[in-house]
Order: sequence, then structure tokens, then C-alpha cells
Amino acid sequence: MSITFLIILIIFFGIIFLFSSKTLSPIPYFPSNKKDLPLIIKALNLKNNQAVFDLGAGDGIVIFEAAKKAYEKNLNTQFFAVEINPVLILIMYIKLLFHPNKKNIKIVYDDIFKINIKKFLNFDFSLLTFYLYISPWYLEKTVSNLKSQLSNLKIVSYMYSIKSLKNKQKTINGKNKIYVYKN
Ligand SMILES: C[S@@+](CC[C@H](N)C(=O)[O-])C[C@H]1O[C@@H](n2cnc3c(N)ncnc32)[C@H](O)[C@@H]1O
Repeated sequence: MSITFLIILIIFFGIIFLFSSKTLSPIPYFPSNKKDLPLIIKALNLKNNQAVFDLGAGDGIVIFEAAKKAYEKNLNTQFFAVEINPVLILIMYIKLLFHPNKKNIKIVYDDIFKINIKKFLNFDFSLLTFYLYISPWYLEKTVSNLKSQLSNLKIVSYMYSIKSLKNKQKTINGKNKIYVYKN
């Protein structure tokens, strides 16, 4: 077996491990449906002085498209793509190199169940918006971490509704459902 083949084999199984490890990534990677992007971006309701976080950003499909729209509208919206999988982080850094709005996008390696949002709020944002596309059994855990830190927040949840916020829920029908919650 040549050394090159061995290295390729190690990288291959390393990537498989990163995507399948329940400890490193308890929520599997599935990108939001491309066809729903216009509805998702409408639900995010991009504005000046707004921070948009994608918690579990995957390859950044939502955050990069939203940042492109903000750039086209000349908005100063700040975008934070939070991810725990190093392979997806690397993919986002590569995509960032070619993005027209790169100065307003931050890629963050962190755990969405523990992340301290306030450390990113170095600016007086008038609105904080969170995009979530995560398994239903982890949604409440993530939302309770957010609620413990922030009082005024907007959440856009793809595909899965948030039971504890049901009384604030608005539903958008796309290919999949998009749930919007605002205080
Ligand atoms: C269903 S995907 C959604 C990807 C992206 N938000 C989208 O809409 O295309 C969920 C993502 O959450 C990430 N993830 C899982 N557990 C995480 C954690 N504890 N902290 C940060 N990201 C996590 C996974 O690696 C995966 O990329």
C-alpha cells in the first residue's frame, strides 16, 4: 500500500467520522432546500443594524444567500454562521473568499447548545434573528440556551416547529414549512 493511498484512506475515514460522530455532530448535516431560500430570506426580513445567526450553518447555504441579498440592498446586516463540523467550517471559509459581502459574514466554530451570543454583540444591534434547521429533539435545548441570554429575539425555524413558542407561531408554506416566532 503506497503512503499516498494510506493518507487518502485516513482523510476519507476522518471525514466519515466527523459527519457521523454523535458527540461531534449530534444533528446530521442536511442543507435547507434551495427552492425555499427566497421564502426563508423573506422570513428573515433583512434590515440595517440586524444580526442574523444560523445556528448549525452547514455549508452556509442560507447565510451566504441572505448576505448576498443584503449586499444587493446595501444593508449593513451582520451574519454569523455557527458550526461545529470542521469540514463544513472549511467549506464555508472557501466560499467566503468569493463572496461579495464577506466583510459582514463571520464564521464561528462553536457549540449551539452552549454558545454565548452576547460575546458577538459588539455593536448595538436593533434586532437579533436566529435561523434554525435542527432536529426537533434538539430545538428546545437550543432555544432555551437563547432564551436564557436574550429577551428580544426572532427565530425562523425550518421544517420543525418549536412547541414552547407555539403561541407566537406564524407558518409559511414552502416545499417544507417555515415557522417564524417573534417576541
Ligand atoms: C440540518 S443541518 C442544517 C444546515 C444549515 N443550517 C442549512 O439550513 O442548510 C444541521 C447542522 O448543524 C450542525 N451541528 C450539529 N450539532 C451542532 C452543535 N452542537 N453546534 C453547532 N453546530 C452543530 C451540523 O454539523 C449540521 O451542519
